Amino acid sequence: MARIAIFDSGVGGLSIYKEIKHKLPNSQYVFVSDNKAFPYGTKPEDELTERVLEVVARIIDQFDPDLLVIGCNTASTVVLPVLREKFDLPVVGVVPAIKPAAELTQTNVIGLLATPATIEREYTEQLINDFAPNCEVIKVGSSRLVEIAEDKLYGKEVNQEQIKVEIQRLLESDKIDVLILACTHFPLLNEELVSLFNETSDIDLVDSGKGIANRVAQLVSEINIKDAQHNPCVAVFIELENLNPNFKQKLTSLEFAAIELLN
Ligand code: DGL
Repeated sequence: MARIAIFDSGVGGLSIYKEIKHKLPNSQYVFVSDNKAFPYGTKPEDELTERVLEVVARIIDQFDPDLLVIGCNTASTVVLPVLREKFDLPVVGVVPAIKPAAELTQTNVIGLLATPATIEREYTEQLINDFAPNCEVIKVGSSRLVEIAEDKLYGKEVNQEQIKVEIQRLLESDKIDVLILACTHFPLLNEELVSLFNETSDIDLVDSGKGIANRVAQLVSEINIKDAQHNPCVAVFIELENLNPNFKQKLTSLEFAAIELLN
């Protein structure tokens, strides 16, 4: 049974976890949230790189996973090369789903919703140049939406009006027919986003979850798995103090048997 570690700044990695677990239900999952340094989407690249390298070293030390998923666009679009150079295990990253969106659009106008950092990344620009050169890509970076997604999983009521304010520029375009959710937090707001867009037009939401799950399944079938035991899934945090009962319950419902501190 493969042990798969999924890492994000916050709860966004859970959207990736759900997709991978759906594809590989019997693997052991270690979900790690860097809730101390959250959010990542407002951090300079060098600070973020240093932080991710440090946390990943601790994850490998404590859990010795067979495979690591960086369940975060903001981190993946900048640290993947250095992670792969430094660590010996397969590392899968989550990056904006520009290619599938470009294949799907009929109007050639695509919305890109991400953190402010992902919107600015050269990597993102390169993906657009490579896979959507004939499309107009309307980019919106929002940290507020990331917070709203966190709050939702923590059991707070979602304020639809606040989401509307954040995505106003996208709602105003009557040509967007595909919206890329290029932050792993945003699929957690799928319902709210769909209902806002459906007030004006039909839109397809595209994220990287299924593609990542397929990639992970392929790698798991190719690599040597160290641990043949089936261990329970564990959710791991850098700080435990702020985890409220609603959120702990959510983790239980997602089949995490234990909550632990990262050493
Ligand atoms: N979930 C993350 C992403 O996919 C980042 C959220 C944040 O920490 O700003 O980009």
